Amino acid sequence: MSATLERVSTMDGNAIAARIDELAQLSDDPGCLTRLTLSPSHKKAAALIGEWMRTAGMHVRVDAAGNVVGRYEAEKPDASKVIIASHIDTVRNAGRFDGNLGVITGIAVVGELNRQGRRLPFAIEVVAFSDEEGVRFSSTLSGSRAVAGVFDAACLDDRDSDGVSRRQALLGFGTDPSKIAEAACNPANTLAYLEVHIEQGPVLEARNLPLGIVTAINGATRGEVVVKGEAGHSGTLPMAMRRDAMTAAAEMILAIEAHARTGADIVATVGRVEIPNGAVNIVPGQVRFSLDVRSSSDDARSRAVADIQQEIARIAAARNVSAQFTATYDMPVTTCDANVIKAMSRAFVQNACEPFMLGSGAGHDGMSFRGRIPVGMIFARCRSGISHNPAEFASPADMGAAARVLFDLLLDTGAFA
Ligand code: GLV
Ligand code: MN
Ligand code: MN
Repeated sequence: MSATLERVSTMDGNAIAARIDELAQLSDDPGCLTRLTLSPSHKKAAALIGEWMRTAGMHVRVDAAGNVVGRYEAEKPDASKVIIASHIDTVRNAGRFDGNLGVITGIAVVGELNRQGRRLPFAIEVVAFSDEEGVRFSSTLSGSRAVAGVFDAACLDDRDSDGVSRRQALLGFGTDPSKIAEAACNPANTLAYLEVHIEQGPVLEARNLPLGIVTAINGATRGEVVVKGEAGHSGTLPMAMRRDAMTAAAEMILAIEAHARTGADIVATVGRVEIPNGAVNIVPGQVRFSLDVRSSSDDARSRAVADIQQEIARIAAARNVSAQFTATYDMPVTTCDANVIKAMSRAFVQNACEPFMLGSGAGHDGMSFRGRIPVGMIFARCRSGISHNPAEFASPADMGAAARVLFDLLLDTGAFA
């Protein structure tokens, strides 16, 4: 049997697509895909992923951070390991490929090794991380941070919009948050962190390429701005006497956009705005809005955040309100490993794919492993560059190609030197 035929059964793009569709049925919202971290649908997804891992020949456990970990042993005991991972939590009204593709591809590749009865010089751990999106709680990447050994215990006290703490949510998920330290890998025997992900942008499609090699993941700052004015009666308070927190926030949001538009390498987004106790007949007394700033340059990002803070303070003073920015997340650029990139390039060429390099504008679990173990990422083409949207789409052919490249990368003896 030729190598190509041997690979068909588990790394076939249609088989991967069928699993993507099956997993997408597990949602907390019947009308769309919403699978927030540690929710009931996350629990069901973790169980399904565990079943698929077992079928692929892995031993499965759920660690204390809610990650599903499937281990495929090496040819000899006590060998080092390679982690292949992504996340199975989603944003609200999500696309089905973001995160899920990387986990399913990892399982497909191990399934193929298992089908061929093949063991490698290193073990493989496929991990379905529990918390990449940072939508339910203000902190993020807690699953991958636990595995990377950089978990911040303070995030256990974060609360979701219903007042449930992450600690309580983990207990409800069936894990013991006091044991999170046990989830950490040992960098001394972890050779690399690998992830396949949908690009979530338009670059590969514009170049008519199925796959790309990620050079670096942009850094990000996230936080919240609280604007405080004074609540009042919408019918009686003259316009000139108002200290309207919402109109001040609106001006700040436009200033943020204008600032980001002047920088070549900056994106800034306000994705959530709340008026606590807001009502049609109340002049808003308080507004909270999120801020997300990203760049491929840490200096440019720090400067942009400082400039935005200054603009916010200027607008607050002019409108006689107060404004306070609190950063909840600050992650520098993660540069992918040069040796892994070289080996990926070989695997691309072997599979008749151009080894095209691109940066990642989106954040990924690999950021948690920055400076600890070598990180490598493969992007699959994303239709129209649309992501965080139900229209997100990667073709079965491209997903199958990603699996085959990942498979060949694992067989490359120079990849994790
Ligand atoms: C995750 O999708 C992020 O980049 O925010
Ligand atoms: Mn993702
Ligand atoms: Mn995402």
